[in-house]
Amino acid sequence: MKHLIAPSVLSADFANLKEDIDMINRSKADWFHIDIMDGVFVPNISFGFPVLASINHYASKPLDVHLMIVDPDRYLQQFKDAGAEVITVHYEACTHLHRTVQAIKGLGCKAGVALNPHTPVSVLTEIIEDLDLVLIMSVNPGFGGQKFIENTYQKIRQLRLLASERNENLLIEVDGGVNQHNVLALLKAGVDVLVAGNAVFASDEPEKTIEEMKKVSLD
Ligand code: DX5
Ligand code: ZN
Repeated sequence: MKHLIAPSVLSADFANLKEDIDMINRSKADWFHIDIMDGVFVPNISFGFPVLASINHYASKPLDVHLMIVDPDRYLQQFKDAGAEVITVHYEACTHLHRTVQAIKGLGCKAGVALNPHTPVSVLTEIIEDLDLVLIMSVNPGFGGQKFIENTYQKIRQLRLLASERNENLLIEVDGGVNQHNVLALLKAGVDVLVAGNAVFASDEPEKTIEEMKKVSLD
């Protein structure tokens, strides 16, 4: 499968959001990555349902919603109603992860689980067959524009190995500090979906940056 590019709207210009949505629509990007932060699970607050619904109104590509919130079960239906196609919850925020994953799938969404940099891949061994996606955080969640943590490569390789044994359809997503320079190494490690915030939105030519990231190939 050709890898997917998911620009992170967190780095967009919120006063001109429509322009940035149109840019992603025109570009070679595959998904919109939407970061929801509650100020409790992470030390930052991003945006909520009205903004998400507005993005959904104009976006012509699937919304990949990354929930950095405690107790996500309370809001799954609302995220579905606001347009989420993929809903990813944090392993560290879910006491009953199996129940949460089943609830996401019950809504007809793809179910993802995110792991913080310190959380080993092995915690997913007993649930990986139920998942559509695993998001490996390559920075500590909360902010765009941080430096990529190098240990991420070995976590991705471990996850790719586990997926080859237990779930061949699993999508592996990487989020944080991704740019044109580490895409190839990430693809080699086994990534399917690359999130990019700062690399896209701080670029003078965001569409071209997206295209460059999409063009990288293993052959
Ligand atoms: C961080 C978010 C990321 C962030 C990535 O908590 O989950 O999606 O927007 O931004 P960059 O690509 O700038 O590291
Ligand atoms: Zn994210």
